[in-house]
Amino acid sequence: MAVVEVTGPSPYEIHIGHANLDQAAARVVSIGARNALIVHQEPLAGVAQRLVGQLAGSGINAVPALIPDAEVGKTLEVTGSLWDTLGEHGFSRQDVVVGLGGGAATDLAGFVAATWMRGIRVVQVPTTLLAMVDAAMGGKTGINTAAGKNLVGAFHEPDSVYIDLDRIDTLPEVEVVSGSAELVKTGFIADPKILDLYRDGAQNHWAELVQRSVAVKASVVSQDLKESGLREILNYGHTLGHAIERRENYTWRHGNAVAVGMMFVAHLAKGRQLIDDSLVALHEEIITSAGLPTRYEAGAFDELYEGMTRDKKNRDGRIRFVVLDGLGSCTRLEDASVEEMRAAYEAVSE
Ligand SMILES: NC(=O)c1ccc[n+]([C@@H]2O[C@H](COP(=O)([O-])OP(=O)(O)OC[C@H]3O[C@@H](n4cnc5c(N)ncnc54)[C@H](O)[C@@H]3O)[C@@H](O)[C@H]2O)c1
Repeated sequence: MAVVEVTGPSPYEIHIGHANLDQAAARVVSIGARNALIVHQEPLAGVAQRLVGQLAGSGINAVPALIPDAEVGKTLEVTGSLWDTLGEHGFSRQDVVVGLGGGAATDLAGFVAATWMRGIRVVQVPTTLLAMVDAAMGGKTGINTAAGKNLVGAFHEPDSVYIDLDRIDTLPEVEVVSGSAELVKTGFIADPKILDLYRDGAQNHWAELVQRSVAVKASVVSQDLKESGLREILNYGHTLGHAIERRENYTWRHGNAVAVGMMFVAHLAKGRQLIDDSLVALHEEIITSAGLPTRYEAGAFDELYEGMTRDKKNRDGRIRFVVLDGLGSCTRLEDASVEEMRAAYEAVSE
């Protein structure tokens, strides 16, 4: 069992272990909640029932709330139905929302908690690799609307996070692969030991991999909760990645798009002599070994360029890339020319 702390104005702990559902339940009890809403996805229905039983045994009115799977769960309609449930059960400021599931469940649970009575506690219990190392921590919550993904949301830090590594065992392979992109990203930007462990076989090292990756994000968000500077480094590979996701109408997994995006910025950095061939080759090796793509459609550059010009990190109309200037070290590139981008894209297109 490991504990990673997030510091800052609202400090909290991220517990990483095995079979630690009872600890999450004990936390809800210790908060003094009378009611708890257990927001969860279908594959976690059994776990949700166990949690409800544990909380009921401690005299808490635990209300299971099964949400539609994946992005369909992150809608205003589902949010509204959860607000109604909170109202029916008389949830007060002392009560708790639990987010049990992948990033869609933790984002929704966090948003519902952020907005009920202007903010009640949320205990996050992430069950996908992506949610463990990324979505469930850092305080970004949100839902999707007709205007786009995650455009409506709030910064609302969790009360605590409980990661049960055993949940990785039931994940479909495609989810392990997609989540691995964010995991190896933290290796490239800050902790290269993650890449060594990954290379040695992720299945032998989940505990240390998740702990190290969580520690990278915890350190970054502790210093910059609201993305005014340092937090940008977590967007490594995301500028092109987001443009690919939009072009594919979100039929591509986020991690797959980010993987191509990391290859792209590696070539961009090499073009500027910020990194050498061996670091580009390391990207190729690790990303491929994770089962992630390193190439995207030739001929799509103009469309993707247009997409990147709309990235929310941009300032003064300039595309702002996070690039490496060494393994585990980031810098910003704000003056890349279209020609440089096109050349880097050609290196990652097929
Ligand atoms: N808030 C943030 O900082 C942040 C960061 C990254 C991503 N996100 C959000 O996270 C979401 C993506 O998260 P995701 O990839 O976890 O997707 P997801 O929540 O849709 O989960 C993926 C699938 O795995 C299933 N699942 C979950 N746990 C399982 C388990 N243990 N065993 C078997 N199946 C399981 C889910 O039911 C779903 O079908 C997006 O909405 C994205 O916007 C948020």
